Amino acid sequence: MAHDLAIDLGTARSRVATRSDGVVIDQPTVVALDGRTKSVIGMGSAAEALIGSTTKPVRTAWPLVQGAVADYDTAVRLLRYLFRAAGGSRFGRPKVLLGVPGTATPIERRALGKAAAEAGASQVRLLEQPIAAAIELGLPLDQPTGSMVCDFGAGKTEVAVLSMGGVVASRGVRIGGLDLDDAIATYVRMTSGVVLSRSVATSVKEQLVQMGPVGSDQAVELAGRAVTSGDPATIVVSASELRPALDDLVRQLVSTVVQCLGEAPPEVAQDIIFHGIHVVGGGSLLHGLAQRLEEATDVPVHLHEEPSIVMVSGLRRCLALGSRYDELFSRV
Ligand SMILES: Nc1ncnc2c1ncn2[C@@H]1O[C@H](COP(=O)(O)OP(=O)(O)OP(=O)(O)O)[C@@H](O)[C@H]1O
Ligand SMILES: [Mg+2]
Repeated sequence: MAHDLAIDLGTARSRVATRSDGVVIDQPTVVALDGRTKSVIGMGSAAEALIGSTTKPVRTAWPLVQGAVADYDTAVRLLRYLFRAAGGSRFGRPKVLLGVPGTATPIERRALGKAAAEAGASQVRLLEQPIAAAIELGLPLDQPTGSMVCDFGAGKTEVAVLSMGGVVASRGVRIGGLDLDDAIATYVRMTSGVVLSRSVATSVKEQLVQMGPVGSDQAVELAGRAVTSGDPATIVVSASELRPALDDLVRQLVSTVVQCLGEAPPEVAQDIIFHGIHVVGGGSLLHGLAQRLEEATDVPVHLHEEPSIVMVSGLRRCLALGSRYDELFSRV
């Protein structure tokens, strides 16, 4: 019997859930290749662990860019690995339900579906991510009540207004957490001449940055390399100096939400004002982002406890729902 898998192939992380076991995989969306032979030497967490930990030349390939497949062959390899790691080989070729960004173009949807089929899926269905999130959050999807879901991912940000089983307004911007990481690294390189690795920039963003009201300022010492010599170097950065470096990007994220709210039909917008905005995706954990959204929209913002697994949990729920939401799925 074929095995059903729910898959959220994110720009930064890939999550797989099965109906019986819940989320069984949550690993980086990366493949490590031997720098000389180009053969695969690690996938997911194993690939990430190889970065900087071996003397061998390692090239890493991140198959998704801005939420879409950008390196097809690597995406197929990674999906094949995910099917296997989720127990797929025990069950034959799996039937898979994949989340797809609501703003993905027809070509991007086709590339994702085709990659899953080539990786060995016997059946591929796609479901728009905001709908998967709404199902997981128990929003009144099949009723005439409006709700809003915002997904702050690593490669893209999407806002959708849902009512009567579908998306009635949406906005997306191909900016996400990775762009914030790059802005931190660029700021440090330009002001101090120190080059930070992406993982250092990511941890600074997650732990130090504060985009909301600033209380006491904090500073951390970071290790990198001097841009002029390549030698190891350290630098102290504070939360207050990083804030202006990220402000423009955060403003764009907030204005995407404001614009989408403005496009919602008036009665639907009223429901959202009353029930609030639901924010999901790892990027929603950025300190102060929820306050910035509340200030800009004057609408309460609901943050979720485990925002990064809302999508895959919603997709998993759909595996069990079967025909009830069948018209929402597209087959590949
Ligand atoms: N505490 C935090 N503060 C700020 N950002 C965070 C925090 N925790 C995680 N993130 C960011 O969330 C992003 C990952 O979110 P998520 O897993 O939802 O993305 P994804 O699904 O891989 O990407 P996408 O949906 O854009 O394809 C990363 O950029 C990560 O740095
Ligand atoms: Mg995502």
